Amino acid sequence: MASPVFTRMLDAIDHGAFPRTRKWAWRGLYDMLSWFWRDDDWRFMNYGFVPDGAPFPLRPEDEPERAFIGLYQQAVEGLPVAGARVLEVGSGRGGGARYVARYCAPAVVVGLDYSPQTVQLARRLNGDTPALSFQTGDAERLPFADGAFDIVVNIESSHCYADVPAFAREVARVLKPGGWFTFADMRGKAMVAELDRQLAAPGLELAAARDLSAGAVAALDAAEARKRARIGRVWLMQRFMAEFAGAQGSMLYKGLANGQVAYVARRYRKAA
Ligand SMILES: C[S@@+](CC[C@H](N)C(=O)[O-])C[C@H]1O[C@@H](n2cnc3c(N)ncnc32)[C@H](O)[C@@H]1O
Repeated sequence: MASPVFTRMLDAIDHGAFPRTRKWAWRGLYDMLSWFWRDDDWRFMNYGFVPDGAPFPLRPEDEPERAFIGLYQQAVEGLPVAGARVLEVGSGRGGGARYVARYCAPAVVVGLDYSPQTVQLARRLNGDTPALSFQTGDAERLPFADGAFDIVVNIESSHCYADVPAFAREVARVLKPGGWFTFADMRGKAMVAELDRQLAAPGLELAAARDLSAGAVAALDAAEARKRARIGRVWLMQRFMAEFAGAQGSMLYKGLANGQVAYVARRYRKAA
């Protein structure tokens, strides 16, 4: 049975209730997680994606994170990342920004997150990676100049925002003309059309749309044993954490598997 706290949380997310309260409640949750769970081998907080077909190349030391890296690999595949200035909004513990910095030869990668504890942790976990930095800031008011970035990445973060259209306008502002915005997140199936309206900021042209749900379920399966082991190490809130982590049998897992929840990816290009 699902944790009642988690059930209410998902319901509220889907219906957009109390957006400001929800936004700051999410921040408290991420602050708490990053303060409590400081494991050196935990750099991702997404549900993951396993693509169809041949596995993408990874160094042996990154293999344990393959399922979570999959969301970033699909996000940047084919984009002109080499030499680019990349911003990740909602960078969490920094594993995705680290992947982009280590595999795609960008000029710089900046990870931005509104949870100060999480930014502090991301700096500690990824301090060995050149051209990568992290700072605190809000997706809805990006602390950067107009046209500062070539590529903006946003992975599994937007469901926490109070005002997604404000975020999309900010992305359009900080991108240089011809720059790319690559996005992935989940929504209740009925809310996907609304998400597409919210992301369609003036100046951003939709270039590609994908449904990643099947690959997300495959990733949850691939990560199940590792998640259960991590959750099993704590005595507190195990049921909530199993729901939060999308463990098998959780509401989120079932929703993705039965089509009630969609994990979508979008790419937009800023008009040149
Ligand atoms: C599910 S985690 C995903 C983290 C990372 N993208 C990953 O895939 O591992 C969501 C992240 O978005 C951040 N976040 C939520 N709302 C935000 C906002 N308004 N501004 C910046 N970051 C935000 C959270 O603090 C959290 O670190």
